[in-house]
Formats: sequence, structure tokens, C-alpha cells
Amino acid sequence: MSSYDEFIHLIDLNDYPVSWWKQLLELGHDIKENPENYSEACKGKIMGTLFYEPSTRTQMSFQTAMLRLGGTIIGFDNPATSSVAKGENIKDTTKIVSGYADILVMRHPSAGSVKAAALTAECPVINAGDGGHLHPTQTLTDLLTLREEKGTLENLTVGLCGDLKNGRTVHSLIKAMSCFKGTRFVLISTKELALPVYVKDILSAGGHEYKEVSSLDEAMPELDVLYMTRIQQERFSSREEYERQKGCYILDRQKMLKAKADLVVLHPLPRVDEIAIEVDDDRRAMYFKQAKYGMYIRMALILTILNKNGTPARLVCGRALPSVRCSNPRCITNHEEYLPKYFIGGGDTVICEYCDERTLI
Ligand code: NCD
Repeated sequence: MSSYDEFIHLIDLNDYPVSWWKQLLELGHDIKENPENYSEACKGKIMGTLFYEPSTRTQMSFQTAMLRLGGTIIGFDNPATSSVAKGENIKDTTKIVSGYADILVMRHPSAGSVKAAALTAECPVINAGDGGHLHPTQTLTDLLTLREEKGTLENLTVGLCGDLKNGRTVHSLIKAMSCFKGTRFVLISTKELALPVYVKDILSAGGHEYKEVSSLDEAMPELDVLYMTRIQQERFSSREEYERQKGCYILDRQKMLKAKADLVVLHPLPRVDEIAIEVDDDRRAMYFKQAKYGMYIRMALILTILNKNGTPARLVCGRALPSVRCSNPRCITNHEEYLPKYFIGGGDTVICEYCDERTLI
């Protein structure tokens, strides 16, 4: 086992206290206002980006963030052109690249994959999206956007619409917003694309107010924030299943007429057809600005992690149960067999430390 607990890895934002997120947001704001003060802050440092899945904003905003801090970048955005195509596992790739770089940013199609990488990395690792599980740096982006555009993170009614089942940005944002006072959630989706039980359990356990509805039209008037999402085609088991869900929710000018004057419309992007182009000109449409905030908050994150500002979170809190298989077929432990199988809890049901899904033992 490596000394992984010495680094500030960012696998799940909720591994860190809200006070640490607030420091990041403060720094992100200052960087946005005074970028010239930070242009040499990471001089001589190297960031490695390991992108096993397509990305435009996340990858490029991380890369520009590092370049704007005076650092340099290495990495791949197409595993087919790296040794992954020859069958190299996550452990070996991470071990090697973390020996070259000072900080790694990784995106991968399996839930829990970035935690698996962090277990052997020799430098800090940032989760840039692990399958349909989590996307903490998108959440930091969303929080900075709300802080700047709404002026508060408290007492907001947040509507989340679209693919709540597979949308990792949704899971991370709900977990984060449930830490702020007075958040109310309106979950707008079809039954098939409803929020996973483990995320709902977090809401219930925290006593948060939430409701599940199927009509975006009806939800519009009560929302302070509307978080639209793409139906995650790549996470469906068949084309037919995707076709049945596609186009269910489309935000258009007509629906915007029913919304509050100070609604903020967010979307992690890319959009397919869930927001009509006509909405782009509405001053409440914040998604392009949001993408730019993503660069500032990633600058703040890289700087904070490289300067070791914060107490590293423990990567593993549970215990190893070598004979138990995680029930989630998309969990990395079911794809890379050498990984130690860690679970939290006792009794009949345990929680996988990589993907958070429940497994009966
Ligand atoms: C999101 C992602 O990759 O999860 N995009 C992003 O990072 N900005 C959302 C999506 O792909 O729909």
C-alpha cells in the first residue's frame, strides 16, 4: 500500500469540510478578479491529465487553469493512443504517471476508478468524473457560479432535471447542496431516470426537503435554480432504452415565462436538445458563464492542493472484505480484480467504498 493518505486527493467533495470548500470559493473569486496575481503560482509544476472518456470543458479548463498558473501539462485524452490500449491497468498507469507529474486529473467510465487510482498514486489525484458516480470539480464550478450570480448558497430551491440516475454532476451537486442551510430539492425526471437510492438516502438521513415530480412546466415557478442535464446516452444498456428517454424535457422560452425573474439556469454542458437555443439569450441562462467559472475554481483547486492547504481526507475508512463482490456491475472493483475490496458498515448490507452502492452479504 502507498502512503496515499498524505496527499489532498479530491475524490468526493463531501470528504472535506464545508469550510474548505468555502476557502476554495473565496480563492476562486479572488483569482477571477485578479488573475495576474497568480500567473506564476505553480511555476515549475506539472499536471498530468488522464482522460479515459471524452471531455471538452473539464479537460480544457483544467489544462488552461494549470497554464494560467504558470505550470505545464502532460497526459492523454484518448486511451487508445496510450498503453491502456495494450491492456495496462489503472494501478500501473497511475503509478507511472504520478511519478512524472506533481498532480493528476483523471476521468474514467467506471464508478470508483479515481479512488482506485489514488490508492497507488505518488501525487494528489483529482476526480474529473468516475462513470455515473461523482464529479466534484463540476460541483465546485456550480457552487462558484451560484456564489457569484446568486450571492448565496443558502435557502435555495434547486430543481434538477433530466437524467438524475446517470448524471454524476447531479449526484455531486445534491450531496454538496445538502450541506447548506435551507436547500429544497425538486427532482424532475421520468421514473426510469430517477435519482439512485443511495443519493436519496443521503437526503432522507439529513432530513432534507425534497420532492420527485415528472413535470418541468409545473416545477418552474418555485425554482431559484434550475440544473438541466443531458440524457447520458453512453450509460444506457441499449439504444432503444435511450431513444425512449431522449427529448423528454426541453427547456424553452415558453417555460421560462413561468419562472422567477431571478432564476439561474445551469447546465454542466454539453447540451444536446434539453435547452432550446432561444433560451441562450435570456439573462437567466448562466451555463456559458458557468463553464468559465470552472476554470477559475480549478485554478483555486490546483493551487490549494499543491500548496497542501488543508488536511488530507482518508481514502479508506471501512474494512477489506476480500470475498464480497460489489453489487454494482459498473464499479471498478468488478473490472480490475486485483483491487482490495473495501466496504463500510456491518450487518446484512455494506456500502462499497469505491462506488457507494449497497451490497447484501
Ligand atoms: C458532464 C460530465 O462529463 O459528467 N460534463 C462536464 O463535465 N462538464 C455532463 C455531461 O456529460 O452530460
